[in-house]
Amino acid sequence: MNEEEAKKEIQQLTQELHLHNYNYYALDNPTISDYAFDKLMEKLIALEKEFPQFILPDSPTQRVGGYVTKQFKTVPHVYPMLSLGNTYSEAELLEFDNRIKSLVDEEFEYVCELKYDGVAISLIYENGYLLRAVTRGDGEKGDDVTANAKTIRAIPLRLFGDFPPFFEIRGEIILPHDQFERLNEEREELGESPFANPRNAAAGSLKLQDSAEVARRGLDCKFYYVLGENLPENNHFDRILKLKDWGVKPPEVIVKTANIDDVFDFIHFWDKERYNLNYDTDGVVIKINSFEQQQQLGSTAKNPRWAIAYKFKAETVSTPLLSVDFQVGRTGIVTPVANLEPVQLGGTIVKRASLHNVEIMNALDIHENDSLFVEKGGEIIPKIVGVDLTQRKEDAKKIEFITHCPECSTELVKIENEAGTFCPNELHCPPQIKEKLEHFISRKAMNIDSLGEGKIELLYANKLVENVADFYDLTYEKLFGLEKIITNQKTQTERVISFREKTTENILKGIENSKNVPFERLLFAIGIRYVGETTAKKLAQHFKNIDILSSASYDELIQVEDVGERIANSIIRYFNQAENLEILIRLKNANLQMEIIEDETIKSTVLSGKTIVISGKFSISRDEMKAKIEQHGGKNSSSISKNTDFILAGENMGPEKRKKAEKLGVPLISEEEFLTMIGD
Ligand code: IVH
Repeated sequence: MNEEEAKKEIQQLTQELHLHNYNYYALDNPTISDYAFDKLMEKLIALEKEFPQFILPDSPTQRVGGYVTKQFKTVPHVYPMLSLGNTYSEAELLEFDNRIKSLVDEEFEYVCELKYDGVAISLIYENGYLLRAVTRGDGEKGDDVTANAKTIRAIPLRLFGDFPPFFEIRGEIILPHDQFERLNEEREELGESPFANPRNAAAGSLKLQDSAEVARRGLDCKFYYVLGENLPENNHFDRILKLKDWGVKPPEVIVKTANIDDVFDFIHFWDKERYNLNYDTDGVVIKINSFEQQQQLGSTAKNPRWAIAYKFKAETVSTPLLSVDFQVGRTGIVTPVANLEPVQLGGTIVKRASLHNVEIMNALDIHENDSLFVEKGGEIIPKIVGVDLTQRKEDAKKIEFITHCPECSTELVKIENEAGTFCPNELHCPPQIKEKLEHFISRKAMNIDSLGEGKIELLYANKLVENVADFYDLTYEKLFGLEKIITNQKTQTERVISFREKTTENILKGIENSKNVPFERLLFAIGIRYVGETTAKKLAQHFKNIDILSSASYDELIQVEDVGERIANSIIRYFNQAENLEILIRLKNANLQMEIIEDETIKSTVLSGKTIVISGKFSISRDEMKAKIEQHGGKNSSSISKNTDFILAGENMGPEKRKKAEKLGVPLISEEEFLTMIGD
């Protein structure tokens, strides 16, 4: 394909993908399958890689992220972001209705919407392109989180139709329940504390510095307000539905009415129905429809007078505590869980609820046979909010957090400055071993799917696999004929697992194939506490092989992006354990990938023959920057001489280097200039 053809194809694919996004999100009417969409996206990614000079500023490939923001810039809002007054009862809502009636002379209409429980966002569109995404901040100015917002598929990068030249859309960034559950499972696997609710998770995700990580979080956005000069329609209802014509998904739930009784009906309906949504809602927002009347009513310093929020009451029940379990996770974190007399709450039957950690458990001061208050609001997770002291038995004993591991009897350790308590016997505590083995074979780690579904249990019970290196000593003879009845704890159904010829062959094949899994995934798979997929990748890129990584000092480790004190200490602890080193030697002997295979693909020759010195900090790591130089034909050098063609100068470049460059007349090039030079 020549340049002209590539340019055309890139433009066409970009347009096509935007259109599919529009069909999917705004019209709720996809015309191609997810698979076909992914294929088009892959095609565009490949073309953009080959012809980076033609990447369009609103390319949908930006949704995968990749930008690292060191600090979010504070920017002023075009219009202040006010908050809403809250009401908690129907009486208060009637007062609001009476107030409106006394202030507005003519007929008026209300619009009812759900109140999304997430993080407010202001999106500025200029000439149909997303210009800026800003958080609420103090209402006057907020953080510019554009790079992160661009990863959210519900936020269009390009609009369609007769959109206004400059305007603002306000919405709420939320984390849907299914994504929230997935994220927390992953965090617990890594030994990180789970997010308390989807709102916290959405807020935390939006403020991440690595937009590629934001892209993986699965955030969504709900829109509720359109502002600007000379916009179409004279009322909120029609204008918000106009979003659809511009390729933005309008609210799924919205009702227009002239009557406060209809508002109450809407509230009563959604108070029950909210439990069937895939996202949190904590109330209903009631707005005056006409913009003229909105203006007439105006605002106080903090809230508009033309709108109000009705907050749903959290449903609370009291139910007897049956017992408290202490569960041990893969990284040894011990979580107390209350077993409750099953009770109907917020649309589901609640039987168990987490007590989270020793601090929360002690604060609740739970005694044997207590009755506990359990609450469920618009959120998905039931919460124990207190003890019904009127039901406490006189001689009831306080339930203490355990001092020793319920699985292996090792004394538990409290993590300093953190809420967690953990069992330090990570190499011999059965649930920790089993979960480590499960993690090792999981899809994002070594991806040995022939070993899933209870097979690990069978291998462990037969003492064939007790650490990850043991997988590579398995033979046909050891496996063939093994059998066990497995009970699924959730469904209480039983199933026989037996290793016959085909199963055994598949297992061995899967293990053999895993020897080709790249080093960075192996590093994730061995299960160093706090080292997730992204950190493993960064460590692999930085240190290149296991030997250099295992002997890295604390100071060397914290040079790596994203590695702070906690992760560095955890890595050092891992490599200080003789048993871990032994496992690594066995993995090496089994021919697993213990070093990175450099991506040496030459992308262009624009830097051919050029000697470059890099200095200072960049938006990507220095190693990644050096790799870019080489991929475009350049040569890295560590010292400045008269042979240096230019210095790639990042933030805080050393004064000595600057002086030397000036003396020798070597030009300085900024990161931005450099990236333009290589067409990145
Ligand atoms: S309208 C002038 N509509 O709740 C105020 N806000 O406490 C316009 N929110 O800042 C806000 N769902 O972050 C509006 N359907 C909805 C909403 C909504 C959630 C949030 C928003 C706002 C806060 C007010």
